[in-house]
Amino acid sequence: MSLHRLTQIVMGVPNVEETAAYYTDFGLARTGHSFATIDGGEQLRIVPSDHRRLLQLGVGADDPDDLDRVAAALTALDVAFERTPTGLRAVDPGTRVTVNVEIAARYDQAPTPAPAYNTPGVDARTDERAPGILREHPVRPRKLGHVVLGSTDQAFSQTFFQQGIGFKVSDTVPGLAAFMRCSTDHHNVLVQQAPVAFLHHTSWQVDDVDEVGRGATAMLEKDPARHVWGLGRHHVGSNFFWYLRDPAGNFSEYYSDLDCIVDDALWTPQVWEGARGLYRWGPPPPPSFLAPEDLAGLMTGAHQPGA
Ligand SMILES: [Fe+2]
Repeated sequence: MSLHRLTQIVMGVPNVEETAAYYTDFGLARTGHSFATIDGGEQLRIVPSDHRRLLQLGVGADDPDDLDRVAAALTALDVAFERTPTGLRAVDPGTRVTVNVEIAARYDQAPTPAPAYNTPGVDARTDERAPGILREHPVRPRKLGHVVLGSTDQAFSQTFFQQGIGFKVSDTVPGLAAFMRCSTDHHNVLVQQAPVAFLHHTSWQVDDVDEVGRGATAMLEKDPARHVWGLGRHHVGSNFFWYLRDPAGNFSEYYSDLDCIVDDALWTPQVWEGARGLYRWGPPPPPSFLAPEDLAGLMTGAHQPGA
């Protein structure tokens, strides 16, 4: 059949315990060094590493035929891989990430009813307060949505994911990045050109824009220094976003209302330039979002957690 979702990522950091505590605050359910979302189960594992990086990216496929197709495509690209009955692993040299294509169950997400919003001329909610202000429970991500990776060879990484693994390109920013999907989400992997291979951010789906705001606010009440960029709405992908920084220096994003592509023929990929490639509204992105402050340290191997 086909690829259908991200499964699990393995993140390497020098400060495992501190980083684990952050992702617990973020709303993931912790068991040891594994972290679960509501709909995806265990989707993050944190392991020791001398510098922060994404070690592994899991991609869910339906059946062994999908693995055969990936194997043939990687062979054509001259990329080495390791095949098992239920999976296939290959390393993208540009991002230095091991991609693990594995047979996995599809998401079966319990629908969240759309909240009733009052708009001019439409009183969809009357005689009651908005649900977004009444919620008291901690925000919990529904699933891992996407990862953004820096690649020292963006062109090859794009070929690896697109032609090798089987991702589709949803939109591009010329010379810099490609938004790629392995599901109906607008993007599951974005690879951007960078001076060093690194993990820019992971992104986690929450129910709606109120949950994006509530989640980020709770994180900042504990530590205001976690703030990176938000609240805003991306142009490419349309999602509401708020980015925070973990103690190792990786960004993590709460998002909601991402574009969904179910019929490839009805979606026209576009090329985006300048600010539109980044956002539609919100505060201007801080320079550290575009070029994280620890990049120089990652390049020279002198990385300090969170520096
Ligand atoms: Fe994102």
